[in-house]
Amino acid sequence: MSALRQIAGDDLRGAMACFATGVVVVTAAPPEGGPVGMAVNSFVSVSLDPPLVLFCAGNGSTTWPAIHAAGHFCANVLSADQEGLARGFARKGDRFAGVSHTPGITGAPVLTAVHAHLECEIADTHEAGDHTLVIGRVLDLALDQRASPLLFYRSSYRLF
Ligand SMILES: Cc1cc2nc3c(=O)[nH]c(=O)nc-3n(C[C@H](O)[C@H](O)[C@H](O)COP(=O)(O)O)c2cc1C
Repeated sequence: MSALRQIAGDDLRGAMACFATGVVVVTAAPPEGGPVGMAVNSFVSVSLDPPLVLFCAGNGSTTWPAIHAAGHFCANVLSADQEGLARGFARKGDRFAGVSHTPGITGAPVLTAVHAHLECEIADTHEAGDHTLVIGRVLDLALDQRASPLLFYRSSYRLF
């Protein structure tokens, strides 16, 4: 039996960076404090029936506990011209300053002019290494057929 290869974090990050993704801002309206949000690219579809999606929250994230407390979230899929939102929602500070949004059916902020948004209730969570898998049941959604996506590939924002 061969010994398991030690995988360095930087090597894994570099290999996974070859996997092009979209960029999603996960928002929520927790019971206390203002709205919260964080940029993620770990967003994927899980199941059509029932309708489930997931994202992964880092164990060091200060936003995830507030999303968990809300019990719901909105996955805002960013459009090509929303790189500024992607950067803003990955920074510390008031992430909603100057950001146009309206409350969705769960109260979670729906960001204006996103490519698509999916409002979810948190259906399940799983601890997985240094992240938590957050599974959401989709309650409502809408998309803009004419928009094009913001992409993230090899640590840079790209256009389709
Ligand atoms: C393109 C991009 C993708 C990201 N993807 C994730 C992700 O999937 N999960 C995560 O926890 N943080 C991700 N982050 C980092 C968060 O946006 C944020 O910086 C981090 O959660 C720390 O902020 P917080 O403490 O307010 O949560 C990503 C950042 C960028 C710019």
